[in-house]
Amino acid sequence: MPISDLLRPVSTAAPDFFSSDYLSVTTSPFVRDAFLRNLASSPRILGSGGSRLGTGNTDAYTHIEERLRNLFGGPGIHACDALLFNSGYDANRVFWSTVPQKGDAIVFDNYVHISMKDGMFQSRAGSTGALYPFEHNAIVAFKERVGEALKEHPNISEGKGTLFVAVETLYSMDGDFARLREIFKAADELIPAGCAHMMVDEAHTTGLFGPDGRGLLFELGLETRVDTVLHTFSKAWGMSGGVIMTSPLIRKYMIMRGKPVMFSTALPYSHICGLNTVLDYVTSTAGSEQRERVRELCLYFSDCLAKGLRSVSPKLLRLDDVEISSYHRQTVVSPIFPILTPAYTSLANFLGAYGYAVTAIGFPAVPRGQERIRVTIHAGNTEAELDEFIACLMRWASGMQNGKRLERSRL
Ligand SMILES: Cc1ncc(COP(=O)(O)O)c(C=O)c1O
Repeated sequence: MPISDLLRPVSTAAPDFFSSDYLSVTTSPFVRDAFLRNLASSPRILGSGGSRLGTGNTDAYTHIEERLRNLFGGPGIHACDALLFNSGYDANRVFWSTVPQKGDAIVFDNYVHISMKDGMFQSRAGSTGALYPFEHNAIVAFKERVGEALKEHPNISEGKGTLFVAVETLYSMDGDFARLREIFKAADELIPAGCAHMMVDEAHTTGLFGPDGRGLLFELGLETRVDTVLHTFSKAWGMSGGVIMTSPLIRKYMIMRGKPVMFSTALPYSHICGLNTVLDYVTSTAGSEQRERVRELCLYFSDCLAKGLRSVSPKLLRLDDVEISSYHRQTVVSPIFPILTPAYTSLANFLGAYGYAVTAIGFPAVPRGQERIRVTIHAGNTEAELDEFIACLMRWASGMQNGKRLERSRL
C-alpha cells in the first residue's frame, strides 16, 4: 500500500458497519443537543492548561471521577476508585507499567490489547521476564501458566508477591467473550487467597452491557470478583479517554508514577463536558433502549447472514465459528462479526466501491488462513441497511463463485 494511502479518510457514504461506536452516540441528535446545551453553560470549555498533577486539575475532573466512581463502584467492589486518563491506551499502559513490581508475575490472555502488553513489558515484573501469556481463552492453558508462574515465583504463595491476571471481556478481533467465570474459578482454586490481582479490560463492553451500561462484569454479577477494571470512552461512549477503576491505594500510586498523569495536559473541558453528557445518555432510558436495539439487530444480522451463506462455499466466505453468544446468557450478544474469506482484499475493495468503510484484515493482524473483514453492529443501523449489506456480500460471493472478479461499475 502506498504511504499516502495509509491515513486516507474513511468513507462516510454508506452506513457504519465498522466503527466501535456501538450505541451510535456520535451521530445521535439527542446527544448533540444535550452536549451543546451543556457546553453553553460550562464555565470553561477549552484546554485545561496543564497536567492533572501540575496546574491542570480543577473540580471539573474531580467531579467526573466522582460520577464514574458512583457508576462503576459500589458496595463490595474492590475496583471502587476512579482515575481518568486521556485515552484507554494511556490508562492500560500506566496501570501495567507501574503497578506490577519485581517479584510479581503476570498471566495474560495472548490476545489482550497491545496497550496492556506494552505496559507489562515496561513493568518491573516484565523486565525480569515474569510474563506468562496463555493461549487465547483456553482454560487448560491458563491453569498451566498459573501453575508455572507460582512454581517459578514461590514468594507469591508465601504472600510476598502478587500474581496479576489480565483478560478482556470481549475480544474485538474475533468478537468472542472471555470465559470469565471459568477463569475466576480456576484462579480461586490455584492461587492462594490474597495473592492474586484480577484485571479486566471492558473496552468493548462498557456502555453496551449491564445495568446502566456498567459493563459485562455487572451484567454477569461478577463485579466484586475483580481488583482493577479499564473502561474506555472510545467505543460505546462515542468519545475518547479511559478510566481505571481500582483501589484508592493503587490510584494514588498511579498518580505518582504514571508519566501521562504528570507530563501530559489533562483533557480539554469540552471533552469533560462531553463525557458528562454521554454518561447521562448511557445511563438513561434512551441508553437502555439503544442497548436493546443493538442486541435485536445483532440477532437479525446473524440470522439473515447465516441464511445467505447457505448458498456460498465456506471456503470462500464464512462467519467465524467462535462461540459468539452461547457462553453467556442469551441477553449477551456480541456486536462484532468476523467474516472470513481468503479473498479479503477483493471483498474489501468491492464493498469500498459502495462506500462502506471496510478494512481488509490479513496476516500478521490475524493468523494466515483467518483473513477477514469485521462487521460491527450499531444501534443506529436499520434492518433495511443490514439487508442491503448482506445482499452486497452475496453479489460479491456469487461473482467470485462464477469466476468473475466483480467491479461495481460493471453491475
Ligand atoms: C481492548 C482494548 N483496550 C484498550 C484500547 C485502547 O483504548 P483507546 O482507543 O481508548 O485508547 C483499545 C482500543 O482499541 C482496545 O480495543
